[in-house]
Amino acid sequence: MLDNAPPLPSEIARRRTFAIIAHPDAGKTTLTEKFLLFGGAIQMAGQVRAKGEARRTRSDFLKLEQDRGISVSASAMSFDYREYRFNLVDTPGHSDFSEDTYRTLTAVDAAVMVIDGAKGVESQTRKLFEVCRLRDLPILTFCNKMDREARDTFEIIDEIQENLAIDVTPASWPIGSGRDFLGAYDLLNDRLELMDRADRNKVAESVKLDGLDDPRLADHIPADMLAQLRDEIAMVRELLPAFDRQAFLHGAMTPIWFGSAINSFGVKELMEGIGNFGPGPQPQKAAERPVAADEPKVTGFVFKVQANMDPKHRDRVAFVRLASGHFERGMKLTHVRSKKPMAVTNPVLFLAADRELAEEAWAGDIIGIPNHGQLRIGDALTEGETLRFTGIPSFAPELLQNIRATDPMKAKHLEKALLQFAEEGAAKVFRPMIGSGFIVGVVGALQFDVLASRIQLEYSIPVRFEPSQFSSARWISGDKAEIEKLVNVNKQHIASDSDGDLVFLTRLQWDIDRVVRDYPLAKLTATKEMM
Ligand code: G4P
Repeated sequence: MLDNAPPLPSEIARRRTFAIIAHPDAGKTTLTEKFLLFGGAIQMAGQVRAKGEARRTRSDFLKLEQDRGISVSASAMSFDYREYRFNLVDTPGHSDFSEDTYRTLTAVDAAVMVIDGAKGVESQTRKLFEVCRLRDLPILTFCNKMDREARDTFEIIDEIQENLAIDVTPASWPIGSGRDFLGAYDLLNDRLELMDRADRNKVAESVKLDGLDDPRLADHIPADMLAQLRDEIAMVRELLPAFDRQAFLHGAMTPIWFGSAINSFGVKELMEGIGNFGPGPQPQKAAERPVAADEPKVTGFVFKVQANMDPKHRDRVAFVRLASGHFERGMKLTHVRSKKPMAVTNPVLFLAADRELAEEAWAGDIIGIPNHGQLRIGDALTEGETLRFTGIPSFAPELLQNIRATDPMKAKHLEKALLQFAEEGAAKVFRPMIGSGFIVGVVGALQFDVLASRIQLEYSIPVRFEPSQFSSARWISGDKAEIEKLVNVNKQHIASDSDGDLVFLTRLQWDIDRVVRDYPLAKLTATKEMM
Protein backbone atom coordinates (compact mmCIF):
# COMPACT_ATOMS: atom_id res chain seq x y z
CA MET A 1 0.00 0.00 0.00
CA LEU A 2 1.24 3.45 -0.80
CA ASP A 3 1.04 5.71 2.22
CA ASN A 4 2.47 8.90 0.88
CA ALA A 5 1.13 8.86 -2.63
CA PRO A 6 -0.19 12.15 -4.02
CA PRO A 7 -3.89 12.73 -3.37
CA LEU A 8 -6.29 11.11 -5.82
CA PRO A 9 -9.09 13.01 -7.56
CA SER A 10 -11.89 13.15 -5.02
CA GLU A 11 -14.27 10.86 -6.90
CA ILE A 12 -11.62 8.18 -6.79
CA ALA A 13 -10.32 8.99 -3.32
CA ARG A 14 -13.76 8.53 -1.77
CA ARG A 15 -14.06 4.97 -3.01
CA ARG A 16 -13.61 2.06 -0.64
CA THR A 17 -13.58 -1.30 -2.34
CA PHE A 18 -13.57 -4.16 0.13
CA ALA A 19 -14.72 -7.67 0.90
CA ILE A 20 -15.98 -9.37 4.04
CA ILE A 21 -14.23 -12.53 5.13
CA ALA A 22 -15.80 -14.79 7.73
CA HIS A 23 -16.34 -18.36 8.81
CA PRO A 24 -19.89 -19.44 7.86
CA ASP A 25 -22.43 -18.30 10.44
CA ALA A 26 -20.30 -15.56 11.95
CA GLY A 27 -22.72 -12.97 10.60
CA LYS A 28 -21.43 -11.88 7.21
CA THR A 29 -24.86 -11.75 5.62
CA THR A 30 -26.37 -9.87 8.54
CA LEU A 31 -23.54 -7.35 8.53
CA THR A 32 -23.81 -6.91 4.75
CA GLU A 33 -27.46 -6.21 5.16
CA LYS A 34 -26.86 -3.56 7.78
CA PHE A 35 -24.26 -1.92 5.56
CA LEU A 36 -26.83 -1.75 2.81
CA LEU A 37 -29.44 -0.44 5.20
CA PHE A 38 -27.24 2.37 6.48
CA GLY A 39 -25.99 2.98 2.98
CA GLY A 40 -29.57 3.58 1.90
CA ALA A 41 -29.43 0.74 -0.61
CA ILE A 42 -32.28 -1.14 1.02
CA GLN A 43 -35.17 0.19 3.04
CA MET A 44 -35.60 -2.57 5.53
CA ALA A 45 -33.43 -5.20 7.07
CA GLY A 46 -34.52 -8.67 6.09
CA GLN A 47 -34.38 -8.06 2.36
CA VAL A 48 -31.06 -9.73 1.80
CA ARG A 49 -31.87 -12.61 4.08
CA ALA A 50 -35.48 -12.73 2.93
CA LYS A 51 -36.80 -16.23 2.95
CA GLY A 52 -38.87 -18.09 0.40
CA GLU A 53 -39.96 -16.50 -2.84
CA ALA A 54 -38.55 -13.08 -2.10
CA ARG A 55 -35.14 -14.58 -1.54
CA ARG A 56 -35.19 -16.54 -4.77
CA THR A 57 -35.74 -13.41 -6.80
CA ARG A 58 -32.81 -11.71 -5.19
CA SER A 59 -29.43 -13.24 -4.89
CA ASP A 60 -29.92 -16.93 -5.53
CA PHE A 61 -29.40 -17.18 -9.21
CA LEU A 62 -28.78 -20.85 -9.32
CA LYS A 63 -31.22 -23.52 -8.44
CA LEU A 64 -28.56 -25.29 -6.48
CA GLU A 65 -28.06 -22.32 -4.26
CA GLN A 66 -31.71 -22.42 -3.38
CA ASP A 67 -31.64 -26.14 -2.71
CA ARG A 68 -28.63 -26.03 -0.50
CA GLY A 69 -29.18 -22.63 0.97
CA ILE A 70 -25.65 -21.54 0.27
CA SER A 71 -24.44 -18.71 -1.83
CA VAL A 72 -22.03 -19.92 -4.48
CA SER A 73 -21.80 -16.79 -6.57
CA ALA A 74 -19.91 -13.72 -5.57
CA SER A 75 -21.51 -10.44 -6.42
CA ALA A 76 -20.63 -6.82 -5.94
CA MET A 77 -22.71 -4.10 -4.36
CA SER A 78 -22.27 -0.35 -4.27
CA PHE A 79 -23.68 2.14 -1.82
CA ASP A 80 -22.89 5.54 -0.36
CA TYR A 81 -22.19 6.25 3.24
CA ARG A 82 -21.39 9.80 4.25
CA GLU A 83 -18.87 11.09 1.74
CA TYR A 84 -17.73 7.60 0.81
CA ARG A 85 -18.72 5.26 -1.97
CA PHE A 86 -18.47 1.69 -0.75
CA ASN A 87 -18.01 -1.16 -3.17
CA LEU A 88 -18.58 -4.38 -1.29
CA VAL A 89 -17.49 -7.47 -3.14
CA ASP A 90 -19.15 -10.54 -1.74
CA THR A 91 -16.99 -13.61 -1.23
CA PRO A 92 -18.56 -17.03 -1.33
CA GLY A 93 -18.46 -18.38 2.19
CA HIS A 94 -18.30 -22.08 1.46
CA SER A 95 -14.84 -23.56 1.74
CA ASP A 96 -15.24 -25.37 -1.57
CA PHE A 97 -15.01 -22.12 -3.44
CA SER A 98 -11.71 -20.85 -2.21
CA GLU A 99 -10.33 -20.24 -5.68
CA ASP A 100 -13.19 -17.94 -6.50
CA THR A 101 -12.66 -16.20 -3.20
CA TYR A 102 -8.99 -15.78 -3.90
CA ARG A 103 -9.71 -14.05 -7.18
CA THR A 104 -12.32 -11.87 -5.56
CA LEU A 105 -9.73 -10.70 -3.09
CA THR A 106 -7.53 -9.55 -5.98
CA ALA A 107 -10.23 -6.98 -6.77
CA VAL A 108 -10.43 -5.28 -3.37
CA ASP A 109 -8.26 -2.84 -1.42
CA ALA A 110 -9.24 -3.94 2.09
CA ALA A 111 -11.17 -6.60 3.96
CA VAL A 112 -13.48 -6.75 6.94
CA MET A 113 -12.95 -9.87 9.01
CA VAL A 114 -16.02 -10.92 10.98
CA ILE A 115 -15.60 -13.25 13.91
CA ASP A 116 -18.13 -14.67 16.31
CA GLY A 117 -17.44 -13.39 19.84
CA ALA A 118 -18.10 -16.82 21.31
CA LYS A 119 -16.08 -18.78 18.78
CA GLY A 120 -13.10 -16.58 17.97
CA VAL A 121 -10.88 -17.39 15.02
CA GLU A 122 -12.34 -20.36 13.12
CA SER A 123 -10.86 -22.50 10.34
CA GLN A 124 -12.32 -20.61 7.41
CA THR A 125 -11.42 -17.26 8.97
CA ARG A 126 -7.83 -18.39 9.11
CA LYS A 127 -7.72 -19.57 5.50
CA LEU A 128 -9.25 -16.39 4.18
CA PHE A 129 -6.99 -14.31 6.36
CA GLU A 130 -3.96 -16.06 4.86
CA VAL A 131 -5.14 -15.08 1.40
CA CYS A 132 -5.44 -11.45 2.50
CA ARG A 133 -2.00 -11.66 4.02
CA LEU A 134 -0.48 -12.78 0.72
CA ARG A 135 -1.54 -9.44 -0.65
CA ASP A 136 -0.88 -7.45 2.55
CA LEU A 137 -4.47 -6.27 2.50
CA PRO A 138 -5.48 -3.94 5.33
CA ILE A 139 -7.98 -5.72 7.57
CA LEU A 140 -10.64 -4.30 9.89
CA THR A 141 -12.07 -6.74 12.40
CA PHE A 142 -15.65 -6.91 13.63
CA CYS A 143 -16.26 -9.12 16.65
CA ASN A 144 -19.93 -9.99 16.30
CA LYS A 145 -22.71 -11.42 18.46
CA MET A 146 -21.66 -9.57 21.60
CA ASP A 147 -25.34 -9.66 22.62
CA ARG A 148 -24.76 -13.35 23.34
CA GLU A 149 -22.36 -14.85 25.83
CA ALA A 150 -18.96 -14.05 24.40
CA ARG A 151 -15.44 -14.91 25.41
CA ASP A 152 -13.35 -12.62 27.52
CA THR A 153 -12.34 -9.64 25.41
CA PHE A 154 -8.61 -9.91 26.12
CA GLU A 155 -8.77 -13.58 25.29
CA ILE A 156 -10.34 -12.87 21.90
CA ILE A 157 -7.70 -10.28 21.10
CA ASP A 158 -4.90 -12.62 22.18
CA GLU A 159 -6.29 -15.37 20.04
CA ILE A 160 -6.33 -13.16 16.95
CA GLN A 161 -2.80 -11.91 17.63
CA GLU A 162 -1.43 -15.37 18.16
CA ASN A 163 -3.38 -17.27 15.56
CA LEU A 164 -3.05 -14.76 12.78
CA ALA A 165 0.19 -13.09 13.74
CA ILE A 166 -1.17 -9.58 13.46
CA ASP A 167 -1.25 -6.75 15.99
CA VAL A 168 -4.73 -5.99 17.26
CA THR A 169 -5.80 -2.57 18.51
CA PRO A 170 -9.27 -2.11 19.99
CA ALA A 171 -11.29 0.66 18.34
CA SER A 172 -14.08 0.03 20.82
CA TRP A 173 -14.40 -1.88 24.08
CA PRO A 174 -17.46 -3.93 24.99
CA ILE A 175 -19.35 -3.26 28.19
CA GLY A 176 -20.66 -6.56 29.50
CA SER A 177 -21.66 -9.46 27.32
CA GLY A 178 -24.64 -11.69 26.72
CA ARG A 179 -27.75 -10.51 28.54
CA ASP A 180 -25.68 -7.87 30.33
CA PHE A 181 -24.27 -6.40 27.15
CA LEU A 182 -24.91 -2.67 27.31
CA GLY A 183 -22.84 -1.38 24.46
CA ALA A 184 -19.30 -0.27 23.91
CA TYR A 185 -16.92 2.49 24.72
CA ASP A 186 -15.66 4.05 21.50
CA LEU A 187 -11.95 4.43 22.15
CA LEU A 188 -11.33 6.44 19.01
CA ASN A 189 -13.91 9.14 19.75
CA ASP A 190 -14.27 8.92 23.53
CA ARG A 191 -17.94 8.14 23.20
CA LEU A 192 -20.28 5.76 24.91
CA GLU A 193 -22.43 3.75 22.51
CA LEU A 194 -25.49 2.14 24.02
CA MET A 195 -27.29 -0.70 22.35
CA ASP A 196 -31.01 -0.54 21.78
CA ARG A 197 -32.41 -4.06 21.95
CA ALA A 198 -35.91 -2.96 21.12
CA ASP A 199 -35.31 -1.88 17.56
CA ARG A 200 -32.82 -3.93 15.65
CA ASN A 201 -32.67 -1.55 12.73
CA LYS A 202 -32.02 1.53 14.76
CA VAL A 203 -28.58 2.80 15.43
CA ALA A 204 -27.41 2.84 18.98
CA GLU A 205 -27.79 5.87 21.16
CA SER A 206 -24.44 7.51 21.58
CA VAL A 207 -23.41 9.70 24.46
CA LYS A 208 -20.61 12.22 23.95
CA LEU A 209 -18.24 12.17 26.87
CA ASP A 210 -15.13 13.80 28.14
CA GLY A 211 -13.18 10.64 28.62
CA LEU A 212 -13.64 7.81 31.05
CA ASP A 213 -13.82 10.08 34.09
CA ASP A 214 -16.90 11.86 32.83
CA PRO A 215 -19.49 11.61 35.65
CA ARG A 216 -22.27 11.06 33.09
CA LEU A 217 -20.97 7.55 32.56
CA ALA A 218 -22.55 6.59 35.86
CA ASP A 219 -25.98 7.55 34.52
CA HIS A 220 -25.75 4.79 31.97
CA ILE A 221 -23.58 2.05 33.43
CA PRO A 222 -24.04 0.27 36.79
CA ALA A 223 -21.19 0.97 39.23
CA ASP A 224 -19.59 -2.50 39.13
CA MET A 225 -19.55 -2.60 35.33
CA LEU A 226 -18.18 0.91 35.16
CA ALA A 227 -15.33 0.03 37.52
CA GLN A 228 -14.54 -3.00 35.38
CA LEU A 229 -14.65 -0.91 32.20
CA ARG A 230 -12.21 1.62 33.65
CA ASP A 231 -9.86 -1.15 34.79
CA GLU A 232 -9.98 -2.88 31.46
CA ILE A 233 -9.37 0.24 29.47
CA ALA A 234 -6.42 1.14 31.68
CA MET A 235 -5.02 -2.29 30.86
CA VAL A 236 -5.74 -1.85 27.15
CA ARG A 237 -3.83 1.41 27.11
CA GLU A 238 -0.92 -0.19 28.84
CA LEU A 239 -0.80 -3.55 27.09
CA LEU A 240 -2.15 -3.15 23.60
CA PRO A 241 -0.68 -1.05 20.80
CA ALA A 242 -2.42 2.18 19.84
CA PHE A 243 -3.87 2.48 16.36
CA ASP A 244 -1.15 3.07 13.79
CA ARG A 245 -2.52 3.82 10.36
CA GLN A 246 0.65 2.86 8.49
CA ALA A 247 0.80 -0.51 10.23
CA PHE A 248 -2.88 -1.00 9.37
CA LEU A 249 -2.36 -0.07 5.71
CA HIS A 250 0.48 -2.56 5.49
CA GLY A 251 -1.66 -5.34 6.91
CA ALA A 252 0.39 -5.57 10.10
CA MET A 253 -2.28 -4.24 12.47
CA THR A 254 -6.03 -4.64 12.62
CA PRO A 255 -8.42 -2.39 14.53
CA ILE A 256 -11.25 -4.35 16.18
CA TRP A 257 -14.81 -3.23 16.87
CA PHE A 258 -17.15 -5.14 19.18
CA GLY A 259 -20.78 -5.23 18.22
CA SER A 260 -23.88 -7.06 17.25
CA ALA A 261 -24.78 -6.97 13.60
CA ILE A 262 -28.31 -8.17 14.15
CA ASN A 263 -28.91 -5.34 16.60
CA SER A 264 -27.23 -2.86 14.24
CA PHE A 265 -24.75 -2.25 17.00
CA GLY A 266 -21.21 -1.18 16.15
CA VAL A 267 -21.94 -1.27 12.44
CA LYS A 268 -21.82 2.47 11.82
CA GLU A 269 -18.57 2.80 13.72
CA LEU A 270 -17.13 0.04 11.56
CA MET A 271 -18.36 1.81 8.42
CA GLU A 272 -16.73 4.99 9.61
CA GLY A 273 -13.55 3.04 10.20
CA ILE A 274 -13.61 1.71 6.64
CA GLY A 275 -14.21 5.23 5.34
CA ASN A 276 -11.74 7.11 7.51
CA PHE A 277 -8.87 4.63 7.67
CA GLY A 278 -9.46 2.34 4.72
CA PRO A 279 -7.32 2.94 1.66
CA GLY A 280 -8.76 4.40 -1.50
CA PRO A 281 -8.18 2.57 -4.78
CA GLN A 282 -4.64 1.17 -4.76
CA PRO A 283 -2.23 0.87 -7.69
CA GLN A 284 -2.69 -2.41 -9.57
CA LYS A 285 0.18 -4.54 -10.75
CA ALA A 286 0.60 -5.25 -14.42
CA ALA A 287 3.46 -7.03 -16.14
CA GLU A 288 4.41 -3.85 -17.98
CA ARG A 289 4.12 -1.33 -15.12
CA PRO A 290 2.02 -0.54 -12.08
CA VAL A 291 -1.25 1.21 -12.90
CA ALA A 292 -2.21 4.11 -10.63
CA ALA A 293 -5.87 4.77 -9.91
CA ASP A 294 -5.71 8.43 -10.93
CA GLU A 295 -4.33 7.84 -14.40
CA PRO A 296 -6.69 9.56 -16.82
CA LYS A 297 -7.18 6.58 -19.10
CA VAL A 298 -9.52 3.77 -18.23
CA THR A 299 -8.09 0.34 -17.50
CA GLY A 300 -9.57 -2.64 -15.72
CA PHE A 301 -9.39 -6.38 -15.38
CA VAL A 302 -11.87 -9.23 -15.20
CA PHE A 303 -11.69 -11.09 -11.88
CA LYS A 304 -14.86 -13.09 -12.15
CA VAL A 305 -17.23 -14.35 -14.78
CA GLN A 306 -20.69 -15.39 -13.85
CA ALA A 307 -22.96 -17.18 -16.25
CA ASN A 308 -26.68 -16.98 -16.44
CA MET A 309 -27.44 -14.52 -13.71
CA ASP A 310 -30.75 -14.49 -15.43
CA PRO A 311 -31.47 -18.14 -16.26
CA LYS A 312 -33.62 -17.10 -19.25
CA HIS A 313 -30.54 -15.76 -21.01
CA ARG A 314 -27.39 -17.47 -22.05
CA ASP A 315 -25.28 -14.40 -21.50
CA ARG A 316 -22.68 -14.00 -18.83
CA VAL A 317 -21.51 -11.10 -16.81
CA ALA A 318 -17.82 -10.38 -16.47
CA PHE A 319 -17.01 -8.51 -13.27
CA VAL A 320 -14.40 -5.88 -13.97
CA ARG A 321 -12.43 -4.01 -11.37
CA LEU A 322 -11.57 -0.60 -12.80
CA ALA A 323 -7.91 -0.01 -12.09
CA SER A 324 -7.76 3.56 -13.36
CA GLY A 325 -9.63 6.40 -14.97
CA HIS A 326 -13.17 7.59 -15.37
CA PHE A 327 -15.39 5.21 -17.29
CA GLU A 328 -18.47 6.38 -19.16
CA ARG A 329 -21.16 4.21 -20.67
CA GLY A 330 -20.71 3.58 -24.37
CA MET A 331 -16.94 3.88 -24.23
CA LYS A 332 -14.94 1.83 -26.69
CA LEU A 333 -12.31 -0.13 -24.86
CA THR A 334 -9.68 -2.47 -26.21
CA HIS A 335 -9.97 -6.08 -25.21
CA VAL A 336 -6.25 -6.65 -24.83
CA ARG A 337 -6.16 -10.43 -25.33
CA SER A 338 -7.94 -10.35 -28.70
CA LYS A 339 -6.76 -6.79 -29.50
CA LYS A 340 -10.34 -6.09 -30.58
CA PRO A 341 -12.31 -2.98 -29.71
CA MET A 342 -15.30 -3.52 -27.50
CA ALA A 343 -18.09 -1.00 -27.08
CA VAL A 344 -19.27 -1.19 -23.51
CA THR A 345 -22.84 -0.07 -23.98
CA ASN A 346 -24.69 -1.85 -21.21
CA PRO A 347 -22.42 -2.10 -18.19
CA VAL A 348 -24.13 -2.73 -14.89
CA LEU A 349 -23.44 -1.48 -11.42
CA PHE A 350 -24.75 -3.68 -8.68
CA LEU A 351 -26.85 -1.70 -6.32
CA ALA A 352 -27.81 -4.07 -3.55
CA ALA A 353 -30.18 -6.53 -5.16
CA ASP A 354 -30.98 -4.85 -8.44
CA ARG A 355 -28.70 -4.49 -11.37
CA GLU A 356 -28.60 -1.00 -12.74
CA LEU A 357 -27.11 0.47 -15.88
CA ALA A 358 -23.87 2.22 -15.06
CA GLU A 359 -23.67 5.64 -16.69
CA GLU A 360 -20.24 6.20 -15.24
CA ALA A 361 -17.76 4.57 -12.94
CA TRP A 362 -14.37 5.40 -11.48
CA ALA A 363 -11.21 3.58 -10.59
CA GLY A 364 -12.00 1.26 -7.69
CA ASP A 365 -15.52 0.47 -8.90
CA ILE A 366 -16.70 -2.92 -9.99
CA ILE A 367 -18.81 -3.00 -13.11
CA GLY A 368 -20.50 -5.94 -14.72
CA ILE A 369 -20.19 -6.31 -18.48
CA PRO A 370 -22.70 -8.64 -20.10
CA ASN A 371 -21.09 -10.59 -22.94
CA HIS A 372 -21.35 -13.82 -24.85
CA GLY A 373 -18.11 -15.33 -23.69
CA GLN A 374 -15.46 -12.97 -25.05
CA LEU A 375 -14.43 -11.86 -21.58
CA ARG A 376 -12.45 -14.29 -19.47
CA ILE A 377 -10.92 -14.14 -16.05
CA GLY A 378 -7.65 -12.21 -16.17
CA ASP A 379 -8.55 -10.25 -19.32
CA ALA A 380 -7.58 -6.59 -19.43
CA LEU A 381 -9.61 -3.75 -20.91
CA THR A 382 -7.81 -0.51 -21.75
CA GLU A 383 -8.05 2.53 -24.00
CA GLY A 384 -5.53 0.93 -26.34
CA GLU A 385 -2.51 0.18 -24.21
CA THR A 386 -1.27 -3.39 -24.03
CA LEU A 387 -1.41 -4.29 -20.37
CA ARG A 388 -1.39 -7.60 -18.58
CA PHE A 389 -2.59 -7.38 -15.01
CA THR A 390 -0.84 -9.92 -12.87
CA GLY A 391 -1.62 -11.78 -9.72
CA ILE A 392 -4.83 -13.51 -10.75
CA PRO A 393 -3.91 -17.13 -10.32
CA SER A 394 -5.42 -20.34 -11.48
CA PHE A 395 -4.92 -23.22 -9.06
CA ALA A 396 -4.32 -26.83 -9.89
CA PRO A 397 -7.49 -28.72 -9.05
CA GLU A 398 -7.36 -31.04 -6.09
CA LEU A 399 -10.09 -33.37 -7.28
CA LEU A 400 -10.39 -34.95 -10.71
CA GLN A 401 -13.24 -36.93 -12.25
CA ASN A 402 -14.20 -38.16 -15.69
CA ILE A 403 -17.36 -36.67 -17.07
CA ARG A 404 -19.75 -38.45 -19.48
CA ALA A 405 -22.95 -37.42 -21.16
CA THR A 406 -25.55 -40.06 -20.33
CA ASP A 407 -26.67 -39.77 -23.96
CA PRO A 408 -23.59 -40.35 -26.16
CA MET A 409 -25.23 -38.31 -28.96
CA LYS A 410 -24.71 -35.24 -26.78
CA ALA A 411 -20.95 -35.60 -26.47
CA LYS A 412 -20.26 -32.67 -28.81
CA HIS A 413 -22.64 -30.41 -26.91
CA LEU A 414 -21.04 -31.42 -23.68
CA GLU A 415 -17.66 -30.34 -24.97
CA LYS A 416 -19.02 -26.88 -25.69
CA ALA A 417 -20.65 -26.59 -22.29
CA LEU A 418 -17.47 -27.68 -20.54
CA LEU A 419 -15.33 -25.17 -22.38
CA GLN A 420 -17.69 -22.42 -21.37
CA PHE A 421 -17.51 -23.41 -17.72
CA ALA A 422 -13.74 -23.61 -17.95
CA GLU A 423 -13.58 -20.07 -19.32
CA GLU A 424 -15.80 -18.91 -16.54
CA GLY A 425 -13.35 -20.42 -14.07
CA ALA A 426 -15.95 -22.77 -12.61
CA ALA A 427 -13.81 -25.86 -13.27
CA LYS A 428 -10.72 -27.04 -15.06
CA VAL A 429 -11.33 -29.17 -18.11
CA PHE A 430 -8.63 -31.47 -19.41
CA ARG A 431 -8.59 -33.45 -22.63
CA PRO A 432 -6.28 -36.45 -22.24
CA MET A 433 -3.87 -37.15 -25.07
CA ILE A 434 -4.84 -40.78 -25.11
CA GLY A 435 -8.45 -41.85 -25.14
CA SER A 436 -11.58 -39.78 -25.47
CA GLY A 437 -13.72 -37.72 -23.18
CA PHE A 438 -12.84 -35.12 -20.64
CA ILE A 439 -11.51 -34.96 -17.14
CA VAL A 440 -12.92 -32.25 -14.93
CA GLY A 441 -10.90 -30.83 -12.08
CA VAL A 442 -12.21 -28.79 -9.17
CA VAL A 443 -10.94 -27.48 -5.89
CA GLY A 444 -13.89 -28.59 -3.74
CA ALA A 445 -16.17 -31.63 -4.16
CA LEU A 446 -19.36 -29.58 -4.11
CA GLN A 447 -18.33 -28.03 -7.42
CA PHE A 448 -19.01 -31.35 -9.19
CA ASP A 449 -22.64 -31.15 -8.09
CA VAL A 450 -22.87 -27.52 -9.09
CA LEU A 451 -21.51 -28.36 -12.53
CA ALA A 452 -23.75 -31.37 -13.11
CA SER A 453 -26.73 -29.31 -12.08
CA ARG A 454 -25.82 -26.38 -14.31
CA ILE A 455 -25.04 -28.52 -17.34
CA GLN A 456 -28.47 -30.11 -16.96
CA LEU A 457 -30.21 -26.80 -16.31
CA GLU A 458 -28.47 -24.60 -18.86
CA TYR A 459 -27.67 -27.07 -21.63
CA SER A 460 -30.19 -29.86 -21.00
CA ILE A 461 -27.44 -32.45 -21.02
CA PRO A 462 -27.68 -35.08 -18.30
CA VAL A 463 -24.17 -36.01 -17.22
CA ARG A 464 -22.51 -38.28 -14.73
CA PHE A 465 -19.14 -38.09 -13.07
CA GLU A 466 -16.99 -41.19 -12.72
CA PRO A 467 -13.82 -41.75 -10.72
CA SER A 468 -10.67 -40.87 -12.58
CA GLN A 469 -7.40 -42.72 -12.34
CA PHE A 470 -5.75 -39.37 -11.62
CA SER A 471 -5.89 -37.15 -8.59
CA SER A 472 -3.56 -34.27 -9.31
CA ALA A 473 -2.63 -32.02 -12.19
CA ARG A 474 0.44 -29.89 -12.83
CA TRP A 475 1.01 -27.43 -15.61
CA ILE A 476 4.08 -28.12 -17.72
CA SER A 477 6.36 -25.31 -18.79
CA GLY A 478 10.02 -24.79 -19.62
CA ASP A 479 12.37 -25.85 -22.39
CA LYS A 480 10.51 -26.90 -25.56
CA ALA A 481 12.71 -29.88 -26.46
CA GLU A 482 12.63 -31.14 -22.89
CA ILE A 483 8.85 -30.87 -22.79
CA GLU A 484 8.62 -32.84 -26.04
CA LYS A 485 10.70 -35.64 -24.57
CA LEU A 486 8.65 -35.63 -21.39
CA VAL A 487 5.39 -35.77 -23.33
CA ASN A 488 6.50 -38.56 -25.67
CA VAL A 489 7.54 -40.84 -22.86
CA ASN A 490 4.55 -40.10 -20.60
CA LYS A 491 1.65 -39.86 -23.06
CA GLN A 492 -0.77 -41.66 -20.75
CA HIS A 493 -0.25 -38.85 -18.20
CA ILE A 494 -0.56 -35.89 -20.54
CA ALA A 495 -3.60 -33.76 -21.25
CA SER A 496 -4.28 -30.26 -22.43
CA ASP A 497 -6.38 -27.68 -20.61
CA SER A 498 -9.02 -25.43 -22.13
CA ASP A 499 -6.37 -22.92 -23.22
CA GLY A 500 -4.39 -25.68 -24.93
CA ASP A 501 -1.67 -25.66 -22.26
CA LEU A 502 -0.11 -28.99 -21.37
CA VAL A 503 -0.68 -30.64 -18.01
CA PHE A 504 0.75 -33.68 -16.33
CA LEU A 505 -1.89 -35.84 -14.61
CA THR A 506 -1.07 -38.37 -11.97
CA ARG A 507 -2.16 -40.08 -8.81
CA LEU A 508 1.22 -40.15 -7.12
CA GLN A 509 3.45 -37.43 -5.79
CA TRP A 510 6.19 -39.91 -6.62
CA ASP A 511 5.42 -39.47 -10.34
CA ILE A 512 5.76 -35.72 -10.04
CA ASP A 513 9.09 -36.06 -8.23
CA ARG A 514 10.27 -38.47 -10.91
CA VAL A 515 9.43 -36.10 -13.76
CA VAL A 516 11.07 -33.20 -11.96
CA ARG A 517 14.20 -35.31 -11.52
CA ASP A 518 14.27 -36.79 -15.04
CA TYR A 519 13.46 -33.59 -16.93
CA PRO A 520 15.33 -30.82 -15.14
CA LEU A 521 14.67 -28.30 -17.92
CA ALA A 522 10.90 -28.70 -17.64
CA LYS A 523 8.82 -27.32 -14.81
CA LEU A 524 5.68 -28.68 -13.17
CA THR A 525 3.60 -26.07 -11.39
CA ALA A 526 0.44 -26.08 -9.32
CA THR A 527 -0.63 -22.61 -10.39
CA LYS A 528 -0.70 -20.73 -13.61
CA GLU A 529 -1.46 -17.09 -14.14
CA MET A 530 -4.61 -16.51 -16.09
CA MET A 531 -4.35 -14.32 -19.11
P1 G4P B 1 -23.07 -15.81 7.62
O1 G4P B 1 -23.57 -15.00 6.47
O2 G4P B 1 -21.73 -15.40 8.09
O3 G4P B 1 -23.18 -17.27 7.44
O4 G4P B 1 -23.99 -15.48 8.90
P2 G4P B 1 -25.46 -14.88 8.99
O5 G4P B 1 -25.44 -13.41 8.82
O6 G4P B 1 -26.37 -15.67 8.12
O7 G4P B 1 -25.74 -15.15 10.51
C1 G4P B 1 -25.75 -16.46 11.05
C2 G4P B 1 -26.71 -16.52 12.22
O8 G4P B 1 -26.25 -15.65 13.24
C3 G4P B 1 -28.12 -16.07 11.88
O9 G4P B 1 -29.01 -16.81 12.68
C4 G4P B 1 -28.11 -14.63 12.33
O10 G4P B 1 -29.41 -14.16 12.64
C5 G4P B 1 -27.26 -14.72 13.56
N1 G4P B 1 -26.63 -13.44 13.92
C6 G4P B 1 -25.99 -12.55 13.12
N2 G4P B 1 -25.55 -11.49 13.82
C7 G4P B 1 -25.91 -11.71 15.09
C8 G4P B 1 -25.75 -10.97 16.29
O11 G4P B 1 -25.19 -9.88 16.34
N3 G4P B 1 -26.25 -11.53 17.42
C9 G4P B 1 -26.90 -12.73 17.43
N4 G4P B 1 -27.34 -13.18 18.59
N5 G4P B 1 -27.07 -13.44 16.32
C10 G4P B 1 -26.59 -12.94 15.16
P3 G4P B 1 -29.88 -17.99 12.09
O12 G4P B 1 -30.65 -18.52 13.22
O13 G4P B 1 -28.99 -18.93 11.36
O14 G4P B 1 -30.76 -17.34 11.02
P4 G4P B 1 -32.08 -16.47 11.21
O15 G4P B 1 -33.10 -17.45 11.64
O16 G4P B 1 -31.80 -15.44 12.25
O17 G4P B 1 -32.33 -15.89 9.87
